[in-house]
Amino acid sequence: QPATPGGGGTPGGADTILLGEVGSLTGAQATFGISTRNGVDLAIKEANAAGGVKGKKLAVRVYDDQGKPEEAAQAVTRLITQDKVVLILGEVASSNSLAMAEKAQAAGVPMITPSSTNPTVTQKGDYIFRVCFIDPFQGFVMAKFARENLKMDQVAIFQDNKSAYSIGLTEVFSKKFAEMGGKITATESYSQGDTDFRAQLTAIKRTKPQGIYVPGYYNDVGIIARQAREQGLTVPLMGGDGWDSEKLFELAGNALDGSYFSNHYSPDNPDPKTQKFIADYKAAYGGVPDALAALGYDSAKVAIAAIEKAKDLSGPAIRDAIAQTKDFPGVAGTITLDSNRNAVKSAVILKVGDGKTTFVTTVNP
Ligand code: PHE
Repeated sequence: QPATPGGGGTPGGADTILLGEVGSLTGAQATFGISTRNGVDLAIKEANAAGGVKGKKLAVRVYDDQGKPEEAAQAVTRLITQDKVVLILGEVASSNSLAMAEKAQAAGVPMITPSSTNPTVTQKGDYIFRVCFIDPFQGFVMAKFARENLKMDQVAIFQDNKSAYSIGLTEVFSKKFAEMGGKITATESYSQGDTDFRAQLTAIKRTKPQGIYVPGYYNDVGIIARQAREQGLTVPLMGGDGWDSEKLFELAGNALDGSYFSNHYSPDNPDPKTQKFIADYKAAYGGVPDALAALGYDSAKVAIAAIEKAKDLSGPAIRDAIAQTKDFPGVAGTITLDSNRNAVKSAVILKVGDGKTTFVTTVNP
């Protein structure tokens, strides 16, 4: 796969510090990888324009994993053994980050996932970090919103049984919603990439839910939403950050109007640094950045700050510097890493309607 030098410099040359990145630039979840890469590149370009780090320029070697865990793991091996990167950024989907984390940890190369939220990712070891919240929080946020704001008593769940992310969110949502006095009427499963969801949706419909929690990725959710409406299931759908893609609206049409999902950031956030990022991103790539782009940018910024602070460019030195990240002013929220190498941050709830999302509320941890 082609390497993209992020803003100049010879990747791997003596005057360059080389970072690695792994993402789904093609395949079913391609917007995840593309948005992340854009965010990372913007941060690298800014750092290079400001004179680089430790007197050197930064560059990023990016590999496309096509959204597949085995490819993601192989890309990490290549980044470590061939390209000799000092740090790795990625992935988005938790199942891919889990495959990568194993390799990065074994080699002692620090890895920062911008947006993987499954708790087990950073549990792979002390070289694995993330700049986003984790799913025990995200699942709680939507369960609480369904119960308290939408006043739902009965909710069904439709999970992707091929995704660590979806399985994790299902567990948390079920537990929290029940603890708050709600009832889960049915838990049905699909496998990502399926195209016919009608049997499960029919089974869900029979249990008369007031809402359906669908913690999947946009490419499946868009089709699920259409088929749900065709089955006469008109209740709101609810989801997590995996819904976040401009492609969601192309796939779903109006089928998700009146539905809700939790996310990391809202472009409506008036914070000046967030608005500056949005303006810079639009100028560079022509479009409003999604949460992946914002978190990709933040992950690269945290990496750059740690490299600057580290006493040398060794894995342990950079690892120790990342671990000390505190009150870092990210465009998708302030980042303080806890002792489990997770960021503790607020979540937002967005409402879908008319081909876009609108901000509903912020939930603090
Ligand atoms: N949190 C998702 C996961 O862990 C990935 C994701 C993050 C998708 C943000 C969209 C937006 O798999």
